[in-house]
Amino acid sequence: MATPLGQVKPLVMSKHAQVQRVTAPMIAARKGSEPVVCLTAYTAPMAMLLDPHCDLLLVGDSVGMVVHGLPNTVGVTLEMMILHGQAVMRGASRAMVVVDMPFGSYEAGPETAYANAARIMKETGCAAVKVESGPEVARTVDYLVRRGIPVMGHVGLRPQAVNVDGAFKAKGRNDAEWGRVLAEAKAADDAGAFAIVVEGVAEDLAGEITALVKAPTIGIGASASCDGQILVTDDMLGLFDWTPKFVRRYADLKAVVSGAAEAYAKDVRARLFPAAAETYALRRNAHRQQRGRVEGSGEQG
Ligand code: KIV
Repeated sequence: MATPLGQVKPLVMSKHAQVQRVTAPMIAARKGSEPVVCLTAYTAPMAMLLDPHCDLLLVGDSVGMVVHGLPNTVGVTLEMMILHGQAVMRGASRAMVVVDMPFGSYEAGPETAYANAARIMKETGCAAVKVESGPEVARTVDYLVRRGIPVMGHVGLRPQAVNVDGAFKAKGRNDAEWGRVLAEAKAADDAGAFAIVVEGVAEDLAGEITALVKAPTIGIGASASCDGQILVTDDMLGLFDWTPKFVRRYADLKAVVSGAAEAYAKDVRARLFPAAAETYALRRNAHRQQRGRVEGSGEQG
């Protein structure tokens, strides 16, 4: 709509324009202070429910296993991450949204990683990406950060390395592994990661990493010594029979969903659903007028 001054007024003020989103520097500033609350999200309605309670929503490549039924995260594509990233951005208005870079999208080198990370940010509107980061990826993290892409690191149990490790196994339980995980965390920190996910490590190691690095550590199966915590939301909601030892179930949604589906099926089979209140009826007058017109015009009703 044109104003007298010839400016164009937006017809609708987006709620996103009114709310200050959490940023990477805000998360980085939480080191050693108030714990950072993070959960995964893959869809708009779930992001909307989680947003008021979380500082950061991660569109994790766990989406491949949780939503798409893949056996691990290796098969997840850039297109899947972008689609789910867009959905989460539509649902969340306050929390920082971080999108995982999938396997194969960043390991070849900084330039490829930059092209893929920039595409994720442009097409989703998210504020940062996450990479599973060993010392070999540190140069890439540095390259991205220097070019305007905030990066979250991910050390310890790195799910994208499942084919090298042979299984999802806790890390740092012997001296050699302990040193390797420390080196991964230090490399991500020195390269400028604004936060580092620490997955599947013993409490002592998580504590040592947290004391060593400048960035806040976000633990998953890594004890309360981290600066924040993250869980896969669907695990925390109790949607699966099996979850790792470190998951606390805050709900039993599997029972709720199964119970609802069972009750619905019973009602449909007994013709108890839908009832009158759930059924449309013709509006009486509209029906009469319609019939009158048809009869008056000599058309067949
Ligand atoms: O993909 C994911 O959901 C993750 C979290 C478990 C940290 O990387």
